Amino acid sequence: MTAILLIGNGAREHAIAKAVIRSTEQPELFSYMKSNNPGIAQLSNEVKLGSYNELDSIVAFAQSIQPDFAVIGPEDPLSHGVVDALEEAGIPCIGPKKDLAQLETSKSFTRNLLKKYGIGGNPDFKSFSSEEGLKEYIEELREVVIKPDGLTGGKGVRVQGDHFQTTDEAFAYAAEVLKTHPSVVIEEKLDGEEFSLQSFTDGVHVVDCPPIQDHKRAYVDDKGPNTGGMGSYSYPDHLFPFLKAEHVQEAHEITVKVAKAIKDQCGELYKGVMYGGFILTKKGVKLIEYNARMGDPEAMNALSIMKSDFVEMCRAIINGTLDEYTIEFEQKATVCKYVVPEGYPANPVKNEKIEVPEENTTELFYASVDQKEDGLYMSGSRAIAFVGIADSLDEAEKEAQSAVEKVKGKVFFREDIGTAKLIQKRINHMNKILQ
Ligand code: AMP
Ligand code: GLY
Repeated sequence: MTAILLIGNGAREHAIAKAVIRSTEQPELFSYMKSNNPGIAQLSNEVKLGSYNELDSIVAFAQSIQPDFAVIGPEDPLSHGVVDALEEAGIPCIGPKKDLAQLETSKSFTRNLLKKYGIGGNPDFKSFSSEEGLKEYIEELREVVIKPDGLTGGKGVRVQGDHFQTTDEAFAYAAEVLKTHPSVVIEEKLDGEEFSLQSFTDGVHVVDCPPIQDHKRAYVDDKGPNTGGMGSYSYPDHLFPFLKAEHVQEAHEITVKVAKAIKDQCGELYKGVMYGGFILTKKGVKLIEYNARMGDPEAMNALSIMKSDFVEMCRAIINGTLDEYTIEFEQKATVCKYVVPEGYPANPVKNEKIEVPEENTTELFYASVDQKEDGLYMSGSRAIAFVGIADSLDEAEKEAQSAVEKVKGKVFFREDIGTAKLIQKRINHMNKILQ
């Protein structure tokens, strides 16, 4: 009997849990979660609750199960070295060791890795551990992005023109970051359309999911504060009207080179997910950042249309035989829309009831919700995601929209994700840049 340990409690892990359960191996699923996700719990043989820095507790749970392997969903346990601890106990993992997870946890590590190994895709950048030369460099670049070195849940990055305007403000923020972080990365602001390319790797070979576009801003028309991601979409041809196959190939080649570089740098193979946040610019495809895990929401788009056996793929990652494995996705459009509590992200309502529609034709993924005796309650972060899957983007959007509209509670969502109007805006933006 196949047994798999899943670590994580979000909608992304609910998507992973569904992909595991779909496997022809009919695995038993064991889940370690920070809080009880009702969707994951329902699919699991056994659940253990605990925090992601309690490595002893995770290892003890794993040893009691003796799983074939563990899949690590979020970055938090990776940053604490959960893979090092599990592998020491003899349990193979889908996810990089702590040193290799720097690909996500340290912005300067990744920028310097690309630079050292001569891999294209970096914007102009410099990493500072003191204020020396900081002001001059900000002035030299003219339009900058400021990134604290370390995990900030996507909330520490500030972009000129969006979050601040002047060079003085840029300097003040960078100096403030240096008080709480060992270093700060200053980089050239890139203009273009962003896309997520989630790749699986055994450390040598790299296979990609279709490109997906996330929506970071809270409100319709890309207004409002940045969030963890309000929703995402993908096209049946696994491209976008503004993104050609050659651009996806460019991004793929960067990831292949980075997999090799990180092996040379750290002396170990990177096994797991390399999720590149890329941007198509006038100067070609550039790298915004890497994450050492699948995206949330992007995992839900990709895994919902994955035709290949997820468990079989994990085995190929562990065995280093990903080159013998064919990854296939249905030629379908996907639109994911998140329902979030009113006030999210700054002041979300909490402990408010949320009711999901009884009739639902979409894939449903639970995120930050608690199952109580009298129903589901929101706990402050993104609550539930719905994924419409159809032959065209238009149909997939309508399915997702019809589901989110039927949710009852103090919630909101972005009705524009996946609509023709928003896609046209992206096309116009790209056309303007390429002129
Ligand atoms: P990150 O945490 O690195 O993904 O940054 C969060 C967001 O900031 C990205 O999704 C981009 O929208 C934006 N961003 C990051 N780096 C840059 C850059 N060099 N140029 C323009 N926007 C950026
Ligand atoms: N979609 C953004 C993230 O997963 O980081």
